[in-house]
Amino acid sequence: MSTKKLLSPIRVGSTQLANRVFMAPLTRSRASQPGDIPTQLNADYYVQRSTAGLIISEATQISQQGQGYALTPGIYTDAQEAGWKNVVKHIHAAGGRIALQLWHVGRVSNRLLQADGQAPVAPSAIRAENTKSFVIQPDGTAANLPTDTPRALETSELPGIVADYTQAARRAIRAGFDLIEIHAANGYLLHQFLATNTNQRTDAYGGNKENRTRLLLEVVDAISAEVGADKVGVRLSPHFTLHDIQDAEAEAMGLYVAEQLNIRKVAYLHIAESDWAGSPAVPIEFRHALRKAFTGTLLYCGNYTAVKAEALIQSNLADAVAFGRPFIANPDLVARFTLDADLNTPDPSTFYGGDARGYTDYPTLKSVRDLAVQA
Ligand code: FNR
Repeated sequence: MSTKKLLSPIRVGSTQLANRVFMAPLTRSRASQPGDIPTQLNADYYVQRSTAGLIISEATQISQQGQGYALTPGIYTDAQEAGWKNVVKHIHAAGGRIALQLWHVGRVSNRLLQADGQAPVAPSAIRAENTKSFVIQPDGTAANLPTDTPRALETSELPGIVADYTQAARRAIRAGFDLIEIHAANGYLLHQFLATNTNQRTDAYGGNKENRTRLLLEVVDAISAEVGADKVGVRLSPHFTLHDIQDAEAEAMGLYVAEQLNIRKVAYLHIAESDWAGSPAVPIEFRHALRKAFTGTLLYCGNYTAVKAEALIQSNLADAVAFGRPFIANPDLVARFTLDADLNTPDPSTFYGGDARGYTDYPTLKSVRDLAVQA
């Protein structure tokens, strides 16, 4: 099997990367408590995977308001910034590169995660009916609870949201991150502004496509002004229908956002495909249109194998591919692709929460070989 292109170097914005096998953003819910702070265990986990061309970090909340699941890390306190700085230091020492994914969940939250038990916020006061939020209850037990009905953000509050993103990006760059990824996918706040069913606003942030895109582009512009557009990536999932997203203009919106990001010369556009989780597949016509609309680095993610990824890059529809579950189970995924070796199987029961088990104990090819030599 040839993975020549997939394993070749690439420049993304101002960052040189060793290969096009990126690690997808993966929530693992192992931040230390209280305070949602990245730990040495988190650093060890990422370092094990530092041969990825680019690690994209797990989604990281920009504020307490932006949190929708317990135990996920933040980037809005000094302690969180220091925790991330330690993670990045170890990745850089290992020769790796890492982007921080900035996250505000919007309505995908529960009052138990919000300051003073307030309602979560969203473009409009519409609840995500079939969506759960992972919380630690007052008695200390964990539970997946229904999301709470959100409160619609006032127009006057939106500059504050943009400021939270900008402050988070500033902290991320101070912590040493190579790139910033703005999470505008998977039905979270920025996606809730983009989609027709979740955004029923009548101000300048709702209605037509230009208005629904306004908040995302304000965030992109503010972060670009802070850190440089060549350090900014954006993740979109136009075809995503989980978390009660029903966008009547999904593809038109995806292409419009791509054009706008192209004008702004952001470093990369990352498309999350979610047919593996029940959303419709991304049509080939859309991939071609997207390639035309966005001339920067384009990456896709979702159920890829090395062969499928190589074919997509060879066909010039993508520049790189991100791998999620394969990277959970195979810290040395790049070596395995290089050698065309078998892959470990991921264990979904240890995806979210817990300790080193199912996190830093997946075997590498080398560890298996060493054991064989000892035997
Ligand atoms: C995810 N995914 C995800 N996406 C995202 O943008 N931010 C995140 O924090 C997470 N967290 C997350 C956790 C876990 C355990 C899974 C399985 C998935 C989606 C992920 O980035 C990717 O799009 C999917 O996993 C599909 O890619 P693979 O796994 O088929 O390569």
